[in-house]
Amino acid sequence: MKEIKKFGLIISALLFSISLVLIAQEQPNEDNKNFDVEKAKTKYVEAKCNTCHSFSAYGIEKKNKSANNKAPDFSEIKVEYDKEFLKKYLNKEEQINNKKHPVAYKGTDEDVELIIGLILHNVPKNEDNKQE
Ligand code: HEC
Repeated sequence: MKEIKKFGLIISALLFSISLVLIAQEQPNEDNKNFDVEKAKTKYVEAKCNTCHSFSAYGIEKKNKSANNKAPDFSEIKVEYDKEFLKKYLNKEEQINNKKHPVAYKGTDEDVELIIGLILHNVPKNEDNKQE
């Protein structure tokens, strides 16, 4: 009888910890909580990034379908650079593989940060934020 009680206790402790882990995973991560995906997508299109870059996770298709267009789809690559570097890269002040970005960004600082946020956070975390 005593053994059964002990067993029950262990099982409930186990279930309790499992639910704690599940609850913790439900919380969006701090960085993404207030990220406005819809606005970032709008800025992405307004800045004409979609001329060359698809962003298939968000249903954005590149306009330039030529085989010469080598711009990657951001859903298919993992961008290895941070925000500050990318801001400079998009202003042609930094290079990737000894090459500057083909076009210089002409919008505002705030907008480029949103666009970079979209690229760096990528899916699927932000997909969950859409409803907020
Ligand atoms: C005229 C076409 C064109 C436009 C418009 C364009 N890009 Fe690009 N982009 C490219 C090409 C081509 C590359 C790949 C360059 C290389 O491999 O050297 C690239 C590379 C990048 C990379 C680096 C990806 C990586 O990790 O290698 C980022 C980030 C990027 N572009 C962001 C943007 C953003 C943001 C916009 C809109 C403001 C934009 N691009 C508009 C053509 C374009």
